[in-house]
Amino acid sequence: MTAPLALGVAGLGTVGAGFLRLLAEQSEVMARRAGRPIQVVAVSARDRMRDRGTDISAFRWHDDPVALAADPAVAVVVELIGGADGVAKTVCETAIANGKPVVTANKALLAIHGADLAKRAEAAKVPLYFEAAVAGGVPIVKALREGLAGNSFRRVFGILNGTSNYILTQMQESGRDFQSVLDEAQGLGYAEADPSFDIDGVDAAHKLAILTSLAFNCPVDFSAVHVEGIRHVSALDIAFARELGYRIKLLAITQATANGIAQRVHPCMIDAESPIAHVDGVFNAVVAEGNFVDRTMFVGRGAGAGPTASAVAADIVDLAAARQAPPFGVPASKFGRFEAAPMDRHRGPYYVRLMVYDRPGVIADIAAVLRDERISIESLIQRGRAAPGQAVPVVMITHETEEAAMVKALEKIGHLATVCERPRMIRIEGL
Ligand SMILES: NC(=O)c1ccc[n+]([C@@H]2O[C@H](COP(=O)([O-])OP(=O)(O)OC[C@H]3O[C@@H](n4cnc5c(N)ncnc54)[C@H](OP(=O)(O)O)[C@@H]3O)[C@@H](O)[C@H]2O)c1
Repeated sequence: MTAPLALGVAGLGTVGAGFLRLLAEQSEVMARRAGRPIQVVAVSARDRMRDRGTDISAFRWHDDPVALAADPAVAVVVELIGGADGVAKTVCETAIANGKPVVTANKALLAIHGADLAKRAEAAKVPLYFEAAVAGGVPIVKALREGLAGNSFRRVFGILNGTSNYILTQMQESGRDFQSVLDEAQGLGYAEADPSFDIDGVDAAHKLAILTSLAFNCPVDFSAVHVEGIRHVSALDIAFARELGYRIKLLAITQATANGIAQRVHPCMIDAESPIAHVDGVFNAVVAEGNFVDRTMFVGRGAGAGPTASAVAADIVDLAAARQAPPFGVPASKFGRFEAAPMDRHRGPYYVRLMVYDRPGVIADIAAVLRDERISIESLIQRGRAAPGQAVPVVMITHETEEAAMVKALEKIGHLATVCERPRMIRIEGL
């Protein structure tokens, strides 16, 4: 066997400590697969005294993770601190500038600075690996970059945020509303105290921007992702979805269209019989549609110490075995032009729910607005009669429609005197 690969691990939280535990247990297996031993030589975190659930006394301690990145004893820097800017970025840049390979789980950093980091890594001729940054333990980065490298992709989509999927699953199973399920999820530790990154779709959008670059060999462009979260999905919408044969999922979708690459994260109504509709709870799934492979689906745990450490470990074995690939599949100098498809050109069927006062002529008013925007209705459900002054739901499924027309129509409908709440719209995704 050749000399051990010396790792410096910056960040010893959920993922960092999980990775140290994995190494303690799996080092022989990994050494066999890599053809050389793998050893941690240095670590860094904020609080040296904190119990990490694993013995770190044998490793050199750095208060400053940037100093760890520059430490001559460290051959590979494993960045598990997090955050798009600040110290995590400086750690990665310092490692690259010192000619050291970087392994990171930091999707926020890669979504915002991925193209720049890839250029730096390429110029310094060092690998930059990030299997753990997308879908945790699911090896989708390697699958798109290598396993499916013979394909052109039409669309890649998935459930990329376990917290949102858990909340939607609980809403579906219990019939409860969003806020009560979120409160419970926070109590159980499934949602952060500040859950906005997860429930507002930002975390999924970070991961989607990375998948887009891998699938379409263009620079990562997080700013081009259309992002909506799940705060406005109501128990009523979930019940209607069920009645109509759909499930509601927060999907992240990247797709080649005639207008460019469309990247969007938003709640979708999908066929209740489709395989991804059955990916529930904290699980993640990614479906990649390639022109030769057809459809492939990857399912697994998208977060947590064990699954994420598993992905970090895979990158380390690749590095130790000197298996190299450009971070996003092609050299940064060979990235194609990124043409972002505008969201208002999106086309598809829509679910629309209105709360209306039960008066004669209500439906005629709504129909007139839709006619003016050239939107045709496939089906309409109006339930029950309401007491005077009470509202009833009206649900419509449209034929394929352009987003711009839909947005305009909903704006006008929202101003009708008989419509008493902001209209709710969920895009229906054909899978
Ligand atoms: N958690 C997951 O399931 C998961 C899944 C996929 C990807 N990721 C990504 O993995 C990364 C780490 O996530 P995590 O959940 O492990 O985070 P975490 O539990 O909050 O841990 C962060 C670690 O970074 C250390 N740290 C923070 N600021 C520092 C600084 N200025 N200098 C030195 N150390 C500093 C913290 O030190 P102290 O412990 O001393 O405070 C802590 O050990 C993030 O990029 C995240 O997006 C996480």
